[in-house]
Amino acid sequence: MDKAPFHHQRLQNRSLFRSPLPKLVLWSILFIVILFLFFHFSPTSQSSSSSSRIDRRSLRTSAAWGGAAWEKRVRSSARIRSSHNHHGISVLVTGAAGFVGSHCSIALKRRGDGVLGLDNFNDYYEPSLKRARQAMLERAGIFIVDGDVNDAHLLRKLFDVVPFTHVLHLAAQAGVRYAMKNPSSYVHSNVAGLVSLFEAAKSATPQPAVVWASSSSVYGLNKKVPFSEVDRTDRPASLYAATKKAGEEIAHVYNHIYGLSITGLRFFTVYGPWGRPDMAYFFFTRDMLRGKSISVFEGPDHSTVARDFTYIDDIVSGCLGALDTTEKSTGTGGKKRGSAQLRVFNLGNTSPLPVSQLVGILERLLKVKADKKIIKMPRNGDVQYTHANISHAQAQLGYQPTTDLETGLKKFVKWYLQYYDPSSSLSKKGRSGGGGSSSFL
Ligand SMILES: NC(=O)c1ccc[n+]([C@@H]2O[C@H](COP(=O)([O-])OP(=O)(O)OC[C@H]3O[C@@H](n4cnc5c(N)ncnc54)[C@H](O)[C@@H]3O)[C@@H](O)[C@H]2O)c1
Repeated sequence: MDKAPFHHQRLQNRSLFRSPLPKLVLWSILFIVILFLFFHFSPTSQSSSSSSRIDRRSLRTSAAWGGAAWEKRVRSSARIRSSHNHHGISVLVTGAAGFVGSHCSIALKRRGDGVLGLDNFNDYYEPSLKRARQAMLERAGIFIVDGDVNDAHLLRKLFDVVPFTHVLHLAAQAGVRYAMKNPSSYVHSNVAGLVSLFEAAKSATPQPAVVWASSSSVYGLNKKVPFSEVDRTDRPASLYAATKKAGEEIAHVYNHIYGLSITGLRFFTVYGPWGRPDMAYFFFTRDMLRGKSISVFEGPDHSTVARDFTYIDDIVSGCLGALDTTEKSTGTGGKKRGSAQLRVFNLGNTSPLPVSQLVGILERLLKVKADKKIIKMPRNGDVQYTHANISHAQAQLGYQPTTDLETGLKKFVKWYLQYYDPSSSLSKKGRSGGGGSSSFL
């Protein structure tokens, strides 16, 4: 009874396959399904879609990673080139296209350490500057993987490919005032990103030791100076500071539960060549050269706003000192096997100077009179005064800052003119003598 319809259907099906049009439709559907499955389950797309859920501002197209050629680049960049006087470590540097990260990466590579960079090249400030730093690192043999620290698949892959001995975690959403515009970017990079990094590190075999950047901003509204590591840090004045403070507490947890060796570094206003365009010394220089007015903050009753400006080379030596004095993490397979090192250090210059003095030095170096607008410091995250007590870092890391603000700014201005305006007469004068050389060139 049902033979006829079945037979009829088979005939129909056969003729369906014989006609070229439905065949094309079928193949198209199959192709679309494969495409969908590929994009849905590939790790890169998962990470980019999850990061877009968390933070639209730092959204960027996640570059593809993986494959034999990519792994070869990763391995080669992270390879230690030991010499007789240096054993060498293998370091994953996050935020390697950033200001501090690029300087540290070069310094490590120069002494023979293996360095692999990771950075998401977000557009918080001009990505072209990050790409220029990347090009410089590439010339030194350092590969920067284009990816987000929140990408757990990518981090796992990196630890699978390279048994890193250390992580220098500098990737973060920096800047104090920007937190009022884009608060979620701070939670994304400084809290979720730090947890993601610690998760990957605690599961890696071997577990690396982690050195990461906290900030002097954790001292918040403290009045007692100089700021010491034993002072209270529970009154942050900005969301940025709060996320760094949260990071220090999270570090305690990963040290306590998983035996990760962790060192937090509280940097104090770092400046220098290849610096960050959102920082005052940088945009004062830009605006003064363009003949634009600059806003200089003052405290209550015309009191001074001052910073413990710290030159980048001093910060780099502090970071390397921290890496060199870490003890090994004690966990394996995500389980703690004994107590591990947990440290925090101030890295500052110990000689705070008023911002007005910074402007005076720039006026001399740029040969420009600044059009200053003195305004009351708005209550949007900045603090009035920072001053580091560095005795702990001196004793434990051999940290000893050597560059005063005038010397450091001279090197910054020389770099700035060469980078942004190589044809200017000031820049040429800088090249024919005077000024210092930037630490990279
Ligand atoms: N420069 C200073 O004065 C100062 C002071 C205190 C603390 N710090 C801290 O030092 C570290 C380095 O600061 P910097 O001045 O070099 O800043 P930077 O912005 O130049 O460098 C940070 C880098 O991290 C990258 N990044 C941000 N979020 C990321 C993410 N989720 N995944 C991958 N990469 C990401 C950025 O693209 C950038 O290149 C930061 O942790 C910062 O908070 C800096």
